[in-house]
Amino acid sequence: MLVRARVLDTPDDPFAGGTLRSDDDAGLLVVDGVVAARGPFAEVLAAAPGHEVVDLRDGLLLPGFVDTHVHLPQVRVIAGLGMPLLEWLERCALPEEARLADPAYAASVATDFVSGLVQAGTTSALVFGAHFAPAVDLLFAEAAVAGLRVTAGLVVSDRLLRDDLWTTPQRAYDEGLALAQRWHGVDRARYAVTPRFSLSCGEPLLDACAALAREVDGAFVTSHINENVAEVLAVGEACSASYVDSYDRHGLLDGPAVLAHDVHPTGAELVTLAERGTAVAHCPTSNGALGSGLFPLARHLTAGVPVALGSDVGAGTGFSLLKEGLQAYFVQQLLGDAGHPLTPAHLLHLATTAGAAALGLPDVGHLGVGMRFDAQHYRPAPGSTLDVGLRHAASPDDALAKLFALGTPSDVRTVWVDGEVAHAALAVDA
Ligand code: GUN
Ligand code: ZN
Repeated sequence: MLVRARVLDTPDDPFAGGTLRSDDDAGLLVVDGVVAARGPFAEVLAAAPGHEVVDLRDGLLLPGFVDTHVHLPQVRVIAGLGMPLLEWLERCALPEEARLADPAYAASVATDFVSGLVQAGTTSALVFGAHFAPAVDLLFAEAAVAGLRVTAGLVVSDRLLRDDLWTTPQRAYDEGLALAQRWHGVDRARYAVTPRFSLSCGEPLLDACAALAREVDGAFVTSHINENVAEVLAVGEACSASYVDSYDRHGLLDGPAVLAHDVHPTGAELVTLAERGTAVAHCPTSNGALGSGLFPLARHLTAGVPVALGSDVGAGTGFSLLKEGLQAYFVQQLLGDAGHPLTPAHLLHLATTAGAAALGLPDVGHLGVGMRFDAQHYRPAPGSTLDVGLRHAASPDDALAKLFALGTPSDVRTVWVDGEVAHAALAVDA
């Protein structure tokens, strides 16, 4: 197909001097799911006539979002406001997570979850699965049907949480390996070894996680870090180590890893994360909703720690990375001199190319030649405030700012992964 659209993307990192790429009337020739040619529409058409033209000029075409931290079992508990992390887990998240022991319930949650991601224009995600292997299996199956590019795994814990969510080191290894053998490297799926957080995982369990990560070639490791002051203190006492060391001393950061939050890192921890190449998923609406704190982005950038965006549904307040980007911007504003000013290009980069880099997806994140056609088309309702804003935008950066400020999943018309339309299944109640 030959896509004709107004395209915005960030092939050049704005944190390293890059600027927003904007093409008002671009032609993107998509062959076998890959952008085979790109240029002014008339030129691409002349060079490659005869392809079906998909005219998307009404609205904006963006790369699909890359959500680097989101929880499968929490789609139905979004907006449990008014509690700090540990209380929210106990009262809001974990009772719902326990319900995923029932595969029928888990199947309907997986449908809600995957359709929530697709509707929000997310095409790749690093997903915290469930504490129950059949539920994680259902997630992979649902993502495959929708076409979503998903990296996910079995969440494991053996202390602190309610005991119906506990596993053992051997079971964690065996069930994780079985899931990885079934899904890792199959089409767009990959496996992520997922200890919930070191507070809920004893040393033998973290060793089992590291052994699994070594066993499954190319597997990711993902967990939480330095989210809430009380939690950080508790980790220090329970693990007799800094939060980063509680993972690093098990070798969990030796390969590709993404840790969510990192609101309260020490300088030494940032040095270790940078040395390991561990990426941080910044989850700003969650950090606001749980009162976790204001993310020190500038310190991460100075230390050389890769940062991308995560929705952290359900502590986060929705699937759209537009909302996360806007909240990330607000947080840096609120930090005053300690904040890093963010332009619309920074926000798009954090939601796309930075996420793709964090997830090790080299041909995802922008829509240049050779990249996969993972894309989302925004076309707001005529007369809506976003529509008015886009029609009167002073520049492409201004249009992008308006999209981050005013856009929602209801403005997303079509989502593609590998050039195929991704389908948000209709949610079925359970
Ligand atoms: N730390 C451990 N589990 C969770 C979770 O589900 N959400 C958040 N935000 N932090 C966590
Ligand atoms: Zn989380």
